[in-house]
Amino acid sequence: MLFRSWAQTADARWPDVARVPDHVGVAHLVVTRHALVRRVLADPATYRPDNALDAVTPIPVSALRVLAGHRFRLPPTLANNGGASHPAIRAIVADALHPTRVAAQRPWLTGLVQERVGRIDATLDAGGPVDLHAELAADLPLLVLARLVELPDAPVGAVKEFARAALELFWAPLDVGRQQALAAEVGRFHRVLREFAATGGGLAGSLRAAGHPPDVLVGALFFLLVAGQETTSQFLTLLLHRLAGEPAVLAGLRAGTVTVADVVEEGLRLEPPIVTWRRVAAVDTTLGGTAVPAGTSIVLWLARAGRDPAIVDAPDEFRPGQRGSRRHLAFGAGTHRCVGDQLARMEAAVVVAETAPLLDRVTVLREPWCPDNLTFRMPDAFVVRRR
Ligand code: HEM
Repeated sequence: MLFRSWAQTADARWPDVARVPDHVGVAHLVVTRHALVRRVLADPATYRPDNALDAVTPIPVSALRVLAGHRFRLPPTLANNGGASHPAIRAIVADALHPTRVAAQRPWLTGLVQERVGRIDATLDAGGPVDLHAELAADLPLLVLARLVELPDAPVGAVKEFARAALELFWAPLDVGRQQALAAEVGRFHRVLREFAATGGGLAGSLRAAGHPPDVLVGALFFLLVAGQETTSQFLTLLLHRLAGEPAVLAGLRAGTVTVADVVEEGLRLEPPIVTWRRVAAVDTTLGGTAVPAGTSIVLWLARAGRDPAIVDAPDEFRPGQRGSRRHLAFGAGTHRCVGDQLARMEAAVVVAETAPLLDRVTVLREPWCPDNLTFRMPDAFVVRRR
């Protein structure tokens, strides 16, 4: 289950809590029910976030040497920070992503998406295929993030490559050769971030002004560059693909009987880009009647929690606005709940509103393919042509 968990969300045979060994023999406690996932997320004293960014395939000495050569360090800053510095760092990031700042980006993003959809429409009209991931979803979140938070002056392609390398290095089953290559990619970018952290404005400047050391700046920027754009790109592609197969929802959007906001929420519930998230037990405890020794890795199956029949009427059906649709845990919960949720929602709403009319008349040439990964879906492409 661990590495293709999204493919099994509709399989009814899972217990509430299951001990599952991974590819290197480490046992994880997989939590499948909404109430239990919530309980873990709401109790950071018993279930700490410290292992959130641990490599699921232990990094061998040869790849560690590559990282060390780039002076790579990732101290706890945001998602994996259960310490005293977390609230202050989070507050500065949350300020940069404040809902009013997010709302201010909406007209600009709408214009950009309209322009792209116009071009895509013309290509489809001419009978050509279009990869909606590459042409629409892949870089939009990074472009918006760059406007909200000053970012290093690196080409979009380089940031995307680094972010995907990081998701693979920390969350995929890997062999040593691949780990070395990914370590080189991630290490190179870490160097870019270090230079930027020393002088950059925007969020980096705010963190510096608040007295946070360079390591913290680099750690926060590193996480934000991955979490703050790659997740949303993935979600946009997964949602567009899902919508292409939901003619009744597209008809509802057209007729005005279905709202864009409800579509985005139901999309987050059924097609979350982050399918699992980890915590580690700080003390001996029990969960759902199962003994949990201190040190146990807990894998919270967020995607399955969103389909828990205890919270939603039709768990596997895309019914925007249905009872329980908004109770998904796609953004986590508690003290580490995603601070970019409003930004992700705004981006998805703009893309759905502008793209839905086009999806009505396409046929899918190539579905998104997702590699093995504990946590991230990472769809690679979504190719359509006019019907
Ligand atoms: C659909 C898109 C996204 C999804 C599904 C998502 C999901 C998540 C999840 C599951 C967590 C862990 C929550 C927990 O531990 O309880 C998280 C944390 C976080 N996310 Fe997101 N995220 C998305 C987009 C974004 C964006 C756009 C940003 C910023 C630009 C962002 C920034 C963060 C940060 C900074 C954290 C760490 C918060 C903390 O530890 O205090 N995310 N996100």
